[in-house]
Amino acid sequence: MKRKIDFLIIGSGIAGLSYALKVASHGKVLILTKANEDESNTKYAQGGIAGVMHKPDSYEKHIQDTLICGDGLCNEEVVRMVVTESTERIKELIEWGARFDKNPKGEFDLGKEGGHSENRVLHHKDNTGFEIERALLQQVHAHPNIEILDHYFALEILTQHHLGKRVTSKSPDTECYGVYALNLKTNRIEQILARITLMATGGGGQVYATTTNPLIATGDGVAMVYRAKGKVENMEFFQFHPTSLYNPDERPSYLITEAMRGFGGILKTIDGKEFMQKYDKRGSLAPRDITARAIDNELKIRGDDFVYLDCRHLDKDGLLKHFPNIHKKCLSLGIDISKDYIPVVPASHYMCGGIKVDMNGRSTIKNLYAAGECSCTGLHGANRLASNSLLEAVVYSHRAYEDSIAQFKKTNHCETIPDWNAERTASPEEMVLIIQSMREVQSIMTNYVGIVRSNLRLKRAFDRLLILHYETESLYERTTVSPELCQLRNIIKVSYIIIKSAMMRKESIGLHYTIDYPRK
Ligand code: FAD
Ligand code: SIN
Repeated sequence: MKRKIDFLIIGSGIAGLSYALKVASHGKVLILTKANEDESNTKYAQGGIAGVMHKPDSYEKHIQDTLICGDGLCNEEVVRMVVTESTERIKELIEWGARFDKNPKGEFDLGKEGGHSENRVLHHKDNTGFEIERALLQQVHAHPNIEILDHYFALEILTQHHLGKRVTSKSPDTECYGVYALNLKTNRIEQILARITLMATGGGGQVYATTTNPLIATGDGVAMVYRAKGKVENMEFFQFHPTSLYNPDERPSYLITEAMRGFGGILKTIDGKEFMQKYDKRGSLAPRDITARAIDNELKIRGDDFVYLDCRHLDKDGLLKHFPNIHKKCLSLGIDISKDYIPVVPASHYMCGGIKVDMNGRSTIKNLYAAGECSCTGLHGANRLASNSLLEAVVYSHRAYEDSIAQFKKTNHCETIPDWNAERTASPEEMVLIIQSMREVQSIMTNYVGIVRSNLRLKRAFDRLLILHYETESLYERTTVSPELCQLRNIIKVSYIIIKSAMMRKESIGLHYTIDYPRK
C-alpha cells in the first residue's frame, strides 16, 4: 500500500503535535505513532516547562543558567534564541488549552528545579506533561487537515538508497522521501511518501535497565537517521535523573520530580544524614549531573541500594497540593510523603544528543526535519537544564514549521520508490531471543556506560555489544519484521553510537564522567 501526504510526522508527543497544528494550515498532515496516540515521554513529564514570564526573572538569567548547566558545550546563539522565544511559545500552549497552576494572586505558580537561579517552571500540579498532551491531542482531533494513525511503526527513512543509489555520510544531497512503516493492525508494511518529514520520535531511555522513560523510548528516530547516513551528535551525554522512586520490581521507574527538591525536599543517606553539601554548594538543588553522580558515589561507598528524599519538614498542605500524584503513588506503596522518607535512586532519563539540526530544525538530510528529544539543537550542551526540553520541543517545532512551509512548495513526491522487499518470510523465531538480547544490552549499558565510565568499561561494552549486533542483524535479515525486533535493533544502534561517542571524548565534562580523565 502507498500513501501520499504533504507533511509526515513520526511521533505524537509535544514536538510532533505542536508542529502538526501549525503546518496543518498549509497542507495535509499525517502523524504516525507506534503505540496509543498519547503514549510518549511527554505524557509523563512532571516538573513543568521552563520559561521567563515576569520579573524578577529575566531572559539573561535563564540563558546563564542554561549555559552553566551545559558545562561549556551549549551553542550560545541557540540558547539565546530558545530562551527569548519561551514566553511566546508558552502563551501558544495556553491558547491551545493547556492549563498551568496559578497562585491566589492569579499569577503563575512558578516552580524551581536544579540549576535554576529563579522560580520559572510553569506546571500543572505534578503531571504537566499529561495536561499538555491532553490539550494538544484535543486540538489535533478537531483539525480537519490532520490524521493520526496509531499503532504504526516507522521502520526506515526513504532516500536515494531505495532507488538503488549509493548513499554515504559524505553524500551532500541525500533526500528524505518519507518512510516505510509497519501497520501493526494489519501487519503490512506500507510506503508513505511525503514532501516534508518531521522526526519527533522522542528519547531512548530504554537503552538502560533503570529508566523513567516509557517503553516507546527506544531511540528509533536516531537509529533510522543514522542508518540513512544523517548526522547524529552529542550522544555520550545521557542524563540520569537523580530521584526515581526505589521500587525494584517496577519498570519504568516512577519519577519523583526535582520540583520536590525545589519545594524544599532534602537528600539524605539512609542514616538520615545530608550529603549534597560535600559535593556542591547548591546542595540538593545542584544540576542533575552533579546530584546523580553524588548519589551514585554515596551508594557505592556505603553499599546502600538507595538514598532518601526527606520532605517531612515541609508544609503538609502545600506539599500535597503541589504533588498529589506522587503522594497517591507513594501511599500505594505504604509511604506517606508528609511523614516518611522517600527512597530514591538515579535512573536514565533524557537523551541530550540526537539528530543534528540547524536553527531551523533541518537535519543533514534534505526535507527531513527533527524536533524534540530525538534532535540535538545545541541547547543542552553537555547537560540539560531541568524543564528545558518541553520548551526546546515547542520552540523547534515552531522554527521547523516556519522553514518547512516554504520548503514543501518546492518539493514533489518521489513516485519511484519500490515496495518494501518482502523476501524475509521466515516467521519470527522464539521471542526469548529478542527479549533476552534486549536485557543484555540494557545490562551492558547500565554497568559499563552509565553515570561513571572508564576506558576499560567502554571497551568491554563495545566488544559485547558487537556480538549482539551481529546476532540481531542476522535475525533481521532472515525473519519478518516485528516491533520488538526493530526496537532491539534500534536500541543496539543507539547504544553503539553512545559508546563510540563516549570513547572519542577524552575528558570528563557534563554528563560524560570518566575516571580515566578526571576533571581539572
Ligand atoms: P515524546 O513525547 O517521547 O514522543 C515521541 C513519540 O514518537 C511517541 O508518540 C512515540 O510513540 C513515537 N515514536 C517513537 N518511535 C516511533 C516509531 N518508530 N514509529 C512511530 N512512532 C514512534 N521535560 C521537561 O521539560 N519538563 C519536565 O517536567 C519533564 N519531566 C519528565 C518526566 C519524565 C518521567 C520523563 C520520561 C521525561 C520528562 N521530561 C521533562 C522530558 C520530556 O518529557 C521529553 O523530552 C519530551 O516530552 C519529549 O517530547 P517529544 O515530542 O520529543 O517525544
Ligand atoms: C522533573 O520533574 O524532575 C523532570 C524535569 C525534567 O526532566 O526536565
